[in-house]
Amino acid sequence: QGSAMAQDYVWCQGIPFPAGGFNPEIIKAAHEKLVLKDEDIITVTYPKSGTHWLIEVLSLIHTKGDPKWIRSVTILDRSPWLESKRGFKFTVERKEGPPLITSHLPIQLFPKSFFTSKAKVIYVIRNPKDVLISGYYFWRFTNLAKKPESLQQYFEWFLQGHVPYGSWFEHVRGWMSMREKENVLILSYEQMKKDPRNMIEKICWFLGKVLEPGELDLVLENSSFQAMKENKMSNIIDVPEELVPASVKITRKGITGDWKNHFTPAQTQAFEETFREKMAGLPPELFSWD
Ligand code: A3P
Repeated sequence: QGSAMAQDYVWCQGIPFPAGGFNPEIIKAAHEKLVLKDEDIITVTYPKSGTHWLIEVLSLIHTKGDPKWIRSVTILDRSPWLESKRGFKFTVERKEGPPLITSHLPIQLFPKSFFTSKAKVIYVIRNPKDVLISGYYFWRFTNLAKKPESLQQYFEWFLQGHVPYGSWFEHVRGWMSMREKENVLILSYEQMKKDPRNMIEKICWFLGKVLEPGELDLVLENSSFQAMKENKMSNIIDVPEELVPASVKITRKGITGDWKNHFTPAQTQAFEETFREKMAGLPPELFSWD
């Protein structure tokens, strides 16, 4: 049930995008023409890596911990996806307001203007085995893109890069090449889980913002998994029900290592082989998970 109306992919420069909400012409325009401003703060991730969590934290840093904004405006409106139909229009037309923007674009499709601007990117990397499991539940139960019929099928698609936004391995490799730039901060989902206070401090330092200890406590408290689960504005409520049913929550489990509850030994071995092959040459400390 539901699969009959599932969307497929649209393609842009060899990368599959969810047909629900995306258009190759707009992605191309975002790449070629979108002008980012020096004050922009862009959350960049491969989908299912903790995007919404980082946006919640950035929103709260912006309001110094006051939850009024996060409780009254949805994530999509607080930090629009620049490559989506709706977010592109918003980003082009915006005049003022909080400079938060989001993108899942691989580096080769990211707005060219970024590379000569002082705009800041925060990239979140997550254990790809958990990204795979999180993605399986998301793409299977929404109608935004091609739906996998089983975990094994999604597993194969993931290793081949035939999933929304293409190959995790290429996405991460591409963005890791920016890791020495002073306007790029790389965070990991696992570090964020282990020490969220430290993550907030790191972000503030990167953005040149100073929060009082009490304000930092409020950011921490209001961006916890539980707080986000209870805040309907942190979930996807502004996309038509036929694309994202209300039963699908961004706040699914919010843990590290859920892959261990799903992967067979054969899948673990196949995954690790692909990982070694595709990520060869990158410093192992970038991948700080079990
Ligand atoms: P799971 O599906 O493993 O639970 P994205 O925002 O990129 O789509 O990522 C979604 C993942 O981030 C989900 O993972 C979700 O539970 C997790 N997440 C969202 N908010 C979180 C929070 N405050 N703390 C920890 N994990 C969070």
